[in-house]
Amino acid sequence: MFHILTGVLDAAALLALQEAVAALDYEDGRRTAGAIAGRVKRNAQARQGAARDAVTARVQAGLMASGTFTSAARPKGFARLLVSRYEGGQAYGSHVDDALMPGGRTDLSFTLFLSDPASYRGGGLVVQERAEDRLIRLNAGEVVLYPSDTLHRVEPVTEGTRFAVVGWVTSWLRDPRQREMLFDLDQAIGVEQARGAEDGQLDRLAQLRSNLLRMWAE
Ligand code: NI
Repeated sequence: MFHILTGVLDAAALLALQEAVAALDYEDGRRTAGAIAGRVKRNAQARQGAARDAVTARVQAGLMASGTFTSAARPKGFARLLVSRYEGGQAYGSHVDDALMPGGRTDLSFTLFLSDPASYRGGGLVVQERAEDRLIRLNAGEVVLYPSDTLHRVEPVTEGTRFAVVGWVTSWLRDPRQREMLFDLDQAIGVEQARGAEDGQLDRLAQLRSNLLRMWAE
């Protein structure tokens, strides 16, 4: 399932993040790519260090405060976060992300778009699905969350500069169908909560959610 998250950062936090990201020190993105993905990866990534870690920590905190993110991802941890920069025709050809990264298994991938889409050309994230390709090109501050098992690519950035924070999440639930069912259950529980009925229905739904998580989590 794909999710578009809005409001992960408020306007002031987004501006501060954009400024911090533009000021980072960048190196060849192939450094973190495997042999197969490295053949098609042409971008720059922020060099590891305190300034980069401060950026990724802010993004992690923003995501963890998002109810949609925690409901959709059931995050156990972040396998890795990177800050990427594309310009001058750079692109990332079709590839699948590594299943295992230093921080763990990759169940979900996300991209936080940081550049105003009017400020650059190209740079869409294209995720290949069975029936068709899905093109994602979001406003600054918006996040797409999608399954890590897909083939995907970033189209060439032919004008301007595209900054993004990308990352991978290890979920308590490895099976995407289980994640979807619990996401739907969260939605149903939200409706019951809003209804405010005192007929025990909410307790039963909460018990069901808790016991499914207990059965499936690993
Ligand atoms: Ni990728």
